[in-house]
Amino acid sequence: MDLGLKGKRAIVTGGNRGIGRCCALTLAREGARVCITARNQERLDAVIHEINDAGGEGHAVAVNLTTLESCQKVVSETVERFGGVDILVNCAGAARGGDILDLSTELIDDALSLKSYSYLRMSQLVIPHMSQNGWGRIINIAGGAGTSPSSGNIPVSLANIAILNMTRALSDAVSKDGILVNTICPGLTNTQRARDVQQASADQAGKDVEELLQELGNELPAGRIAEPEEIADVVAFLASEPCSYIFGSSIYMDGGGRRGTP
Ligand SMILES: NC(=O)c1ccc[n+]([C@@H]2O[C@H](COP(=O)([O-])OP(=O)(O)OC[C@H]3O[C@@H](n4cnc5c(N)ncnc54)[C@H](OP(=O)(O)O)[C@@H]3O)[C@@H](O)[C@H]2O)c1
Repeated sequence: MDLGLKGKRAIVTGGNRGIGRCCALTLAREGARVCITARNQERLDAVIHEINDAGGEGHAVAVNLTTLESCQKVVSETVERFGGVDILVNCAGAARGGDILDLSTELIDDALSLKSYSYLRMSQLVIPHMSQNGWGRIINIAGGAGTSPSSGNIPVSLANIAILNMTRALSDAVSKDGILVNTICPGLTNTQRARDVQQASADQAGKDVEELLQELGNELPAGRIAEPEEIADVVAFLASEPCSYIFGSSIYMDGGGRRGTP
């Protein structure tokens, strides 16, 4: 299938490692020009090299995405460099966990300012460029914690459920302009973040974190946790021309781990 991504102009937040890096590389291999953004310049440079090696065209903007100004910088640099924006992948996230009985509002503020406010701000900033062309794709990376909260993960859970609601509302607001807004909710995925998040549980159980990740994967119908490349492949489809009838949806990529319907 031709995804029709050749020459499309994409922004991937959180693009210097993990799921965001894989999304950027997959879109670049399909011929898209990709602007990646995150804080760490060294890792951004490394991914730009990978994009160039794959024959793509990359651009990096190093910012902390928790302010409106930083979001504006990313979009304006992309427009300056590529002449517009067709695809936005909102992926940056770094929420810290904490027991709900002892949770500071600072932890919740941190989680929301990156993972839901930046998703909304970035969307608001790219939509005028997409509307101009009558075509656009916005793909949000949320997570299963939005609908399956636990007492230890409320900051990310609140961020994820906000994204699910925002996806639906944004979709309704912009679908008439040819802009499709959808969300992927990955389950546990093989990235550094998964290791960081599970480290405390591994320490508590006196296990190596790799062993714990394998055990958690074994408990899933899939028998393993997800690879970031698998998430990126679905992102590429949601960003594509042939994806023309999925509006405001949330797709669970959790290896069958989610209980309940839908
Ligand atoms: N891995 C999983 O198991 C899993 C499961 C469900 C959902 N998710 C979601 O998937 C997304 C990606 O996760 P991942 O596992 O790929 O994590 P990761 O490897 O830790 O990547 C997170 C990305 O976000 C960037 N970032 C963090 N704080 C930032 C800030 N203040 N400003 C700008 N960029 C920032 C990081 O780069 P810098 O540090 O250089 O800024 C990095 O590029 C997150 O939204 C996460 O919640 C992950």
